[in-house]
Amino acid sequence: MSERKSLLIIGGTSGIGKEIAGRGVARGDEVTVSGRDAGRAAVVAKELGAAAGIGVDIAKCEQIAAGLGGVGSVDHLVLAAIERDQNSVADYDIGRATYLSTLKLVGYIEVIHALLPRLTPAASIVLFGGLAKDRPYPGSTTVSTINGGVTGMVHTLAVELAPVRVNAIHPGIVGDSPFWSVKPAEVLAGYTSRTPTGQLATMADIADAAEFLLRNGSVNGVNLHVDGGWMLT
Ligand SMILES: NC(=O)c1ccc[n+]([C@@H]2O[C@H](COP(=O)([O-])OP(=O)(O)OC[C@H]3O[C@@H](n4cnc5c(N)ncnc54)[C@H](OP(=O)(O)O)[C@@H]3O)[C@@H](O)[C@H]2O)c1
Repeated sequence: MSERKSLLIIGGTSGIGKEIAGRGVARGDEVTVSGRDAGRAAVVAKELGAAAGIGVDIAKCEQIAAGLGGVGSVDHLVLAAIERDQNSVADYDIGRATYLSTLKLVGYIEVIHALLPRLTPAASIVLFGGLAKDRPYPGSTTVSTINGGVTGMVHTLAVELAPVRVNAIHPGIVGDSPFWSVKPAEVLAGYTSRTPTGQLATMADIADAAEFLLRNGSVNGVNLHVDGGWMLT
């Protein structure tokens, strides 16, 4: 069996998804990255040396199947797309909440549904949640709920899609990710001081975990925390 895999990353134009894409290219995989905009995805694909960049807005669920029409068979699928949401119950923005819930809880599943006939028998899927499900903060109600939803999604999909394997990563604060790296140093130091390893997770740590989950043939139905032990403190 060829070691060269076809790897599709939904949300591969930035941050952790892009890191995973770069490592896939370095390994010799046939990598496709996606984002909302086809032009931006094509630029990122060229920068990385990836096979293709495609535009699929996964919050527009009815358009996902058509957007993925040009994708061939898939060995490894990563669902990393996210839009940030700060949304308290007191000032609840229904539009924002609906958008993000749709993106992750319906969009992720619709991507898998659309690709199902193209998943190879030994295919594997990695979804991204996050630790706001366990470590809420003001305004995180939608995000916390969605992350909990990803946990359940892994369980049901691993059963329903068998023998395809399905796992999720719930990162802690990823200090060098585009979202966190621009935060004030004292904010990051506060999280670091509560992390037993004395350092925040890096994008390379998360990509390494994703590769493990994608490639290890017996890891299935796992919700993996990659957080330096942050949840223990
Ligand atoms: N960074 C962290 O510390 C952290 C912590 C916990 C969990 N996570 C999880 O890890 C994953 C990656 O996070 P990140 O920080 O690396 O993300 P990021 O840098 O913000 O990148 C988000 C990606 O999602 C894509 N995207 C946004 N809206 C989309 C839509 N409607 N349809 C399709 N693609 C869309 C973006 O592409 P375009 O902009 O090109 O459309 C981009 O490629 C996320 O699921 C996040 O919840 C991250």
